[in-house]
Amino acid sequence: GGFKPSREKESIVCSGLLSLVGFFACKRLIPVVARANLAKGLFGKDINKRGTEGGEIPIPESLGLATGLVHIVCIVLFQVIHTHFLRPPPSSQRHHEGWWSCLKDALLGPSDSPYPASSPSYLLPQHGLDDWTEKWLIQYNSALASISLMVFLGFADDVLDIPWRTKLVLPTVATLPIIAAYTGSTAILIPLPLRDLVGCSLVDLGVLYQIFMVLVVVFCTNSINILAGLNGLEAGQTLIIAGAVLLFNVTKLSSIVALPELTLEDVRVRDAHLFSAYITLPLVAVTAALLLFNYYPSRVFVGDTYTYFAGMALAVSGILGHFSETLLVFFIPQIINFVYSTPQLFKVVPCPRHRLPVYDRETGLLHPSRRQDGGYNLNLVTLFLRLFGPCTEKQLCNRILFFQFVCCAFGFALRHVLAGVYK
Ligand code: UD1
Ligand code: MG
Repeated sequence: GGFKPSREKESIVCSGLLSLVGFFACKRLIPVVARANLAKGLFGKDINKRGTEGGEIPIPESLGLATGLVHIVCIVLFQVIHTHFLRPPPSSQRHHEGWWSCLKDALLGPSDSPYPASSPSYLLPQHGLDDWTEKWLIQYNSALASISLMVFLGFADDVLDIPWRTKLVLPTVATLPIIAAYTGSTAILIPLPLRDLVGCSLVDLGVLYQIFMVLVVVFCTNSINILAGLNGLEAGQTLIIAGAVLLFNVTKLSSIVALPELTLEDVRVRDAHLFSAYITLPLVAVTAALLLFNYYPSRVFVGDTYTYFAGMALAVSGILGHFSETLLVFFIPQIINFVYSTPQLFKVVPCPRHRLPVYDRETGLLHPSRRQDGGYNLNLVTLFLRLFGPCTEKQLCNRILFFQFVCCAFGFALRHVLAGVYK
């Protein structure tokens, strides 16, 4: 009984502390970037506000630039810390590691290898940059490449107004680094009741699974971007989804850490969830900082820089955490909004530049908005107004965020039920 002490707790604490620093850094950086963006003409009108119809109060746009930058810096710094201080140390080789090894042991306590004695030798760390660390770095750097590329493309979109169809291509290209580095399974588990029909319990989708992952990224980035238009909505939904992802990681990790002995599969799952947590912790931090400025009434707008960055960070965390199917369950509001929007997205019915609600100057309430042809705009924001009646911008945002919360809770319940169907 009992579990061996290893580095996973230290690494999570380390990533958490770094993210905390990231939160404060982001909080300081946002006003600076906001002023710079405003000076360069990067601002927008707050369309749902009284008196802004003439465009009197410009709100700085594209603050995703600040959050994206701090997130990237956080994960770059964590990479250095992880590679040099937190990688699993082989106890037999500890004396080769020099004075800082003694220092870290003094600070963090001595630790044994997290690998079970039965691990094949290729998994065991070697002197210098061991195989495990090398493999970890490949994955980590691919995540870094994909996220950085997406911040860059998002900002380019904010500045240059890239046409909608091109917007679909951008995340596809930005996915390639993580798809190339993906080491998880490309098979899907068949539910118990269907196994007799299919004739096996696992079906390897191969290249189809890789296409599926590209679609996950394209979906995550664009779906957050189009569930938008209310102060705090883009950052709010991201914070809730990221919170759910983090909770999912922690639940999985704590159940694995509690095992008396780990199989190779346990080690793989553990490492994947640790990886996912390293991406998600700083995402939660920078998003919380952004929300301080973006929540009603917005002092800054997040821009497509943020929506693309956030969608990519979540997708990377789900894909390299090997739970992209579960991730999609947390995206139920975005799926509903996306499917409901398709007639407008594919121009079957007219789609105006903005599908924001209509602001009533008399009452200060928002009303459902209509298209040029008279029909209602086909998105979740308008649907909520039609279903639950006119309300203030803040109320409407909170209602949708509450729905997001309920969907994430439902995701956890669904997993619990499905566990029985899949075992
Ligand atoms: C997406 C939506 C669009 C919606 C817009 C709002 C689709 C296909 N596209 O477009 O319908 O109007 O997001 O973000 O569904 N704004 C506000 N209040 C806010 C947030 C944004 O008034 O709380 C306005 C500001 O003028 C801001 C602009 O929206 O400058 C940003 O729009 P942008 O992100 O460029 O729109 P898209 O992502 O292209
Ligand atoms: Mg947008």
